[in-house]
Amino acid sequence: MDYEVSPDYMPISPSALRTDTTVGCDIYILAKTSIEVRFVLYCKSDAVFDEEKKSMLLSKRIKKLFIKKGEKQAFFTYLENNFQKIVSDSSIPSDERTRIVHSSATNLVKDLFEDPRSGSIERTKTFANNMVDYVLMDTMAAESLLLLKIAVHEYSTYTHSVNVAAVGTLFGQDLGLGVTDLKGLCAGILLHDVGKTRISTDILNKNGKLTKEEFEEIKKHPEYGADVLNETSTEYKEELIVTLQHHENDDGSGYPYGLKKDEIHPCGKISRIIDVYDALTSTRSYKDALRPFASLLEMKENMLHCFDAELFKEFIRFLGPYDPRKKSRKTDKWST
Ligand SMILES: [Fe+2]
Repeated sequence: MDYEVSPDYMPISPSALRTDTTVGCDIYILAKTSIEVRFVLYCKSDAVFDEEKKSMLLSKRIKKLFIKKGEKQAFFTYLENNFQKIVSDSSIPSDERTRIVHSSATNLVKDLFEDPRSGSIERTKTFANNMVDYVLMDTMAAESLLLLKIAVHEYSTYTHSVNVAAVGTLFGQDLGLGVTDLKGLCAGILLHDVGKTRISTDILNKNGKLTKEEFEEIKKHPEYGADVLNETSTEYKEELIVTLQHHENDDGSGYPYGLKKDEIHPCGKISRIIDVYDALTSTRSYKDALRPFASLLEMKENMLHCFDAELFKEFIRFLGPYDPRKKSRKTDKWST
């Protein structure tokens, strides 16, 4: 039996476990003998993961642990609660930390889309704050977040929101946005499609062409999203802007309000560009993923009216010879 074909268990990284904490779900080791392969309980859900247990993993060179899939929610809650300690642990390689950030964010957005009223909007805000701190603290984080985007092509609403938030945060940082603006932008992008939770799945998942009425309904998702946010808190700013404006076009042809040029906030303009870019570079059921250069060409030749031309040029420059070690440019042009 191979763990990858075991439907009941999923692998986790031992690096994610902090000493002197309880994880909240049972953790298993894959034990192989000459006659069988089986999952053996290694740390019970309410037992403390201590130095002794950690040393045992190191001495036996165990690189992978397992949890039952049915208990993964408890594990993701643990990751969110220990996020800062995990991502600031320089003994964990950057790419591994990035994978933890990505899987944790994807799970969070999944919860958000299943039930935005269950506290997941507030969790998203906290997560965005931590994610921006991570990107600002660790320049290698930026590089590995971009590389991960290149590796993860399969599209889902969840991974799409996380990818757009990762690229949007890095682009915003590159443009010289301040920390507060970046946190609002990142949270806003994670939340930007939350209004789709108020649209029938029959319309959202329809395979054929949408009728005029169905498309009119889809076009309401920015306003539905703003309603969801307003019902949760009155303190959102960039979050509301991104949610409302991520389908507005520079020439006024977008929706829901047909805003144009400087009527659109910089955070709205940034999210418009990155939302399209991620959709083009992802695989969908009806299309293959385009390579980054082909995506930019498509955006330039057929969609330029959607974007702020100057910001689009900045985006091309940003994706070009991207060097996360260089300082972001000192300009307040795009600051809010
Ligand atoms: Fe959208």
